[in-house]
Amino acid sequence: MNLIEARDLTLSLPDLNAKKLLRPAPRVTILRGLSFAIPQGACVGIVGESGSGKSTLGRTLVRLYEPTAGTLTFAGTDITHLSAEAIRPLRRDLQVIFQDPSSSLNPRRTVGSIVAAPLKLHGVPDPAARARQALDEVGLGAAFAGRYPHELSGGQRQRVGIARAVALEPRFIFADEIVSGLDTSTQAQVIALLKTLQREHALTIAFVSHDLSVVRHLCDELIVMSAGEIIESGRTAEIFDRPQHRETQALKDAIPLPEIDPDWLNA
Ligand SMILES: Nc1ncnc2c1ncn2[C@@H]1O[C@H](COP(=O)(O)OP(=O)(O)OP(=O)(O)O)[C@@H](O)[C@H]1O
Ligand SMILES: [Mg+2]
Repeated sequence: MNLIEARDLTLSLPDLNAKKLLRPAPRVTILRGLSFAIPQGACVGIVGESGSGKSTLGRTLVRLYEPTAGTLTFAGTDITHLSAEAIRPLRRDLQVIFQDPSSSLNPRRTVGSIVAAPLKLHGVPDPAARARQALDEVGLGAAFAGRYPHELSGGQRQRVGIARAVALEPRFIFADEIVSGLDTSTQAQVIALLKTLQREHALTIAFVSHDLSVVRHLCDELIVMSAGEIIESGRTAEIFDRPQHRETQALKDAIPLPEIDPDWLNA
């Protein structure tokens, strides 16, 4: 079964770069007719050059943006144009983990209250206890609940971001460059954690990265984007062995050495 299906998904937004006084406000098309399916329980890698639309796709899949054209279904429900109110019950199922944990973690709140906040919002019973349990699950331990984000390393902060999402028991996580900026061994640990969580919670994950070597170890399927379009998609191994596009080859060539030790990932 496909958890997510996008057909001809198109998004245009008011152009932030256009002159303010122009009427009607000019729009810029960012996603151009994307069609793909994400099977239940799969991990799909999304790669592509900077500005190709990966983050915008994530915001659209979790319906922070309303598609301009095309259709988007989640678990068989057409969510393309659901109103804010109608989408509310699905919010918990659709989570994003952002690139930069330091900007998405409130510096004035403890880690425990950061993880508990969305639980409260969704009316989960005993949010503080559930938050401690989630911190445990991501390998930080419940004792981290009393700490502040600035007291943590980059890898630990990213684990907090993961705990906050996973605590809600979502069905889909859009993980947007969550290991960029971490050193290689910390990257490998965070990816191994994601793999474990995926298995234990039957999560469906879209994993965005600039780095094909990371995606190769985590994701069975791959979507390659360029300029708001999908230029290539399919089994990761196949695309890796026989890239069809110059852009894909370029991403492959950009793989930093040494590569991640696969043993880390299977630990
Ligand atoms: N409201 C907007 N107005 C104008 N341009 C926008 C707007 N929102 C996004 N864009 C542009 O859309 C394109 C896609 O942006 P997006 O952030 O999705 O790319 P990305 O693939 O995530 O890039 P990166 O790898 O750098 O994170 C970029 O060129 C961006 O500048
Ligand atoms: Mg991005």
